[in-house]
Amino acid sequence: MTLGRLRILALGVLFGIVAASAGAQQQRGDWWGHGPMGPGHMWSERMPGWGWGNMGPGQQQRMQRHWTYMNEGVPASYRGARSAVRATPEIIADGQSLYSENCASCHGAEGLGDGEAGRSLVPSPALLRWFVQMPMSGDEYLLWSISEGGERFGTDMPDFKEALSEEDIWKIIAYMRAGFP
Ligand code: HEC
Repeated sequence: MTLGRLRILALGVLFGIVAASAGAQQQRGDWWGHGPMGPGHMWSERMPGWGWGNMGPGQQQRMQRHWTYMNEGVPASYRGARSAVRATPEIIADGQSLYSENCASCHGAEGLGDGEAGRSLVPSPALLRWFVQMPMSGDEYLLWSISEGGERFGTDMPDFKEALSEEDIWKIIAYMRAGFP
């Protein structure tokens, strides 16, 4: 386990313990998706009343995905997967149209989690613009979560392993990592 992974794991454990010991669980914003990475979005501004003990079921499901990855890694068929495309302008342009057709409705045109179809979902669509820059979201993690979706975690993230080729998924990833140009 790398230091980066360990650090995220330690954070996760902290969140987990505090959430478990808290009594009433209420739905608040998303600690991960709408965290301090967003421009001008301090937690306290976005989520009045947010506190360590207020993690709602949505956050817990999101955390379960991250937690599962930290503990078990990805399923064997995704282990060690590496992007098969180079981030050329053509690939990024392909990725952009694939993203707008398949992802923007929920995750928003710029990956800010504000797509029309995603408004009422709990947990809300991830803030991909920031998430793809985090240490956790390496090739195998992104390929796995996009291919398999959220069925295992009971979320609304669809699985794309039938709808898109693996190469298309890599193109979308290249587009997102390029900062949603
Ligand atoms: C119907 C709405 C919907 C669509 C369409 C959708 N997603 Fe999601 N996605 C979600 C929701 C809700 C979550 C948060 C729950 C979860 O992690 O499973 C999510 C989570 C994710 C995650 C995991 C982020 C994390 O925190 O680990 C990735 C990566 C992702 N989506 C990428 C995509 C990509 C790429 C597409 C298009 C190919 C797409 N999604 C299409 C709803 C959607």
